[in-house]
Amino acid sequence: VVGHAFIGRSEEIVSLREIALQVAAKDVSVLITGETGTGKEVLARFIYERSWRAGRPLVAINCAALAQGLVESELFGHEKGAFTGAHAAHAGCFEQAQSGTLFLDEVTEIPPSTQAKLLRVLQEREIRRVGGVRATPVDVRIIAASSRDVQRAIAEGTLREDLYYRLSTVELALPALRERPEDILPISEHLLAKHASRNDSQLAALSREAAELMRAYPWPGNIRELENVIARATALAQAGDGTLLLPEHLPPKLHGAPAAATASEPSSGAAGAPAEEGLVLEFSVAMARLKQRYAEEALRRAAGNKAAAARLLGVSRRGFYNLLRGT
Ligand SMILES: Nc1ncnc2c1ncn2[C@@H]1O[C@H](COP(=O)(O)OP(=O)(O)OP(=O)(O)O)[C@@H](O)[C@H]1O
Ligand SMILES: [Mg+2]
Repeated sequence: VVGHAFIGRSEEIVSLREIALQVAAKDVSVLITGETGTGKEVLARFIYERSWRAGRPLVAINCAALAQGLVESELFGHEKGAFTGAHAAHAGCFEQAQSGTLFLDEVTEIPPSTQAKLLRVLQEREIRRVGGVRATPVDVRIIAASSRDVQRAIAEGTLREDLYYRLSTVELALPALRERPEDILPISEHLLAKHASRNDSQLAALSREAAELMRAYPWPGNIRELENVIARATALAQAGDGTLLLPEHLPPKLHGAPAAATASEPSSGAAGAPAEEGLVLEFSVAMARLKQRYAEEALRRAAGNKAAAARLLGVSRRGFYNLLRGT
């Protein structure tokens, strides 16, 4: 892999990329937050690859995937015989990441008692294996991530506030894809190049119609979902289809309320009701498109500056994002 691209041209991503480059050079703890699929791991690897620890180990651990009883052993290691089943000594993630970087994914899923121990390790820069007596110095840079709302996790008591402050010397919040629609096309093109070569597909660019459908969709699964859609298209496109990714290569969920179109077709005896329902749904789709065009036109006149575009329309920034989404 030739370095991880962190693609995006939205203001949010451009400034995140700048901050990431600055903090990469420092040794500070970074906490990356964002909904599922927004690119937290991509950003973590981007930072790692540009840090002075780049040639050294990167150990990634998903704290949500660990069995409750094994978290401490996974993080700090254990000595032989430390507990039933500990047949051999085991070096934990900290030791494996020695002199390098430890990526603690879904850090809010660590049980609170272990969080207290983790905080102590970070402060004292030494670990003690479970069942061990000897303390080993560790020199590890921490990048943590959470797909949960960390402030809420603190309020609910699932994330210790003291650990949060220790981890979040710099906090980078990745916006959802629906809040930065101008990133959809560049990321799609990047992923199209990646999957086309993998799937031996000729697709090389998005048709205008396909691009419109991509931009109109709210992407609840963010870039991970976008990547699935692109991968699917490269798998489905036939050799005779040419090089353009067309609407027909996109899954039904992207074809704006397809249920409405089918529901409005006269099928069973009662003709009136389904047709009316279809009309209402189509109207809402038309409204959504209108709102998006309105917002996009403002964005164009404001030369891509969203704050200025929102001002132009006299709506809040959030209101503007809603318009862009067609809601
Ligand atoms: N800025 C980006 N440019 C290119 N590809 C990206 C970008 N962000 C994410 N991706 C791709 O999207 C997918 C999801 O990214 P990633 O695994 O980093 O998300 P995540 O936030 O860690 O998600 P989760 O919370 O579900 O673990 C990956 O396949 C990644 O390659
Ligand atoms: Mg992840």
